[in-house]
Amino acid sequence: MSTMRRKEARFLARNNPVDFQVAGSAGDHLFDAAGKRYIDFLTGWCVGNLGWARPEIREAIRGFEGPDYVYPGFSYAPWVELAELLAKVTPGPVEKCFRATGGSEAVELALQAAMIHTGRRKLLSIEDSYHGNTLGVLSIGASEARDTIPNLLQNCHKLASPLDADALSRLETQLRHRDVAAFVMEPVIINLGVLIPEPEFMTGLQELCRRYGTLLVADEVATGFGRTGRLFASELFGLEPDIVCLSKAVTGGGAGLGAMVASAEVGESMEKKGSFYSTYGWHPLSTAVAIASVRYLVRDEKRLMEGVEATSGLFRQRLEGMRFPEPPELRIRGLAMGVDVHDPDYARRVRDRCREGGLILSAEDTTLLLLPRLEVDHAAALEGLEILEACL
Ligand SMILES: Cc1ncc(COP(=O)(O)O)c(C=O)c1O
Repeated sequence: MSTMRRKEARFLARNNPVDFQVAGSAGDHLFDAAGKRYIDFLTGWCVGNLGWARPEIREAIRGFEGPDYVYPGFSYAPWVELAELLAKVTPGPVEKCFRATGGSEAVELALQAAMIHTGRRKLLSIEDSYHGNTLGVLSIGASEARDTIPNLLQNCHKLASPLDADALSRLETQLRHRDVAAFVMEPVIINLGVLIPEPEFMTGLQELCRRYGTLLVADEVATGFGRTGRLFASELFGLEPDIVCLSKAVTGGGAGLGAMVASAEVGESMEKKGSFYSTYGWHPLSTAVAIASVRYLVRDEKRLMEGVEATSGLFRQRLEGMRFPEPPELRIRGLAMGVDVHDPDYARRVRDRCREGGLILSAEDTTLLLLPRLEVDHAAALEGLEILEACL
């Protein structure tokens, strides 16, 4: 074991440790410490949507000349600029932005806002979903977290998949007592291996939430900023959420930032009664990077989204032609691509073999996850797919 590895094992906790030391990144590629090049179909899990070392983002970092820090109670013009930008691009009537450092904090703020606004205490989410790792959002994720963490939030209820028309009656049973503050979900559930809900479910969900006064919270932390072929996955279903949670690709990876964006009414309740001071939420440098990244996406939205759809078709076609031990279930929406191989050990083995062969992808339970950047170079896409095929 190298000295670095020994120190790492002793001093640094790692989540899902993978034996891969990153030394650099550019475009579609990561480079390890020995200079070996890898095609990146993970992009930091929906972070590097614009590709690594994107000039617009590097320039925002290098050229930054603002204050080191701004106290949250002060006024800062770029905060207003970013808030207006996010209000304009996010789906539905949401417009009031609350600053956060990342995704967990953004979803926490959403839970708080929903409880304050409705005066209700129950929360509803999708069983086994993931919305981050603070205690509040762990409470709305997989129920099995309760086995190891005994004091999660009470009154958190779960709706099990499949999310089809039949699930609506189960949903209504939960909502009809008018005591559920919020229903929280990723509109396309990337954390469940790209689970794509049926459109009937999403239409009914919106309708039932309105009917029973439950706020609809779209966690677009992973799906946001173009991943599913729309700027936001809510758009795929015509969803008009009361709250949208953002992070990850909002900065393209150049800095850390999160946001909870609420409708004017929900925002007002939260602003009056909520607790949302965030010391490093929207740090000036992160704000500059987010503005550059969102501007890039908005300016080129049409071209980028058409490109995502075309590339998605290419991936689908190639994946459909590959020979797996068992026919896989392909769950593809834009460049959120899940290949369910029905066996977690096999999925992990393929992932590890791919890495040895120069391709980075993720294995989540029984599903291989492919999340390349939005403008993935076609040659890199084809090379990555060839490596994958050779590793099956
Ligand atoms: C859908 C979703 N919500 C929230 C989070 C939490 O974000 P963060 O890791 O920035 O706290 C994640 C992280 O993977 C996520 O995928």
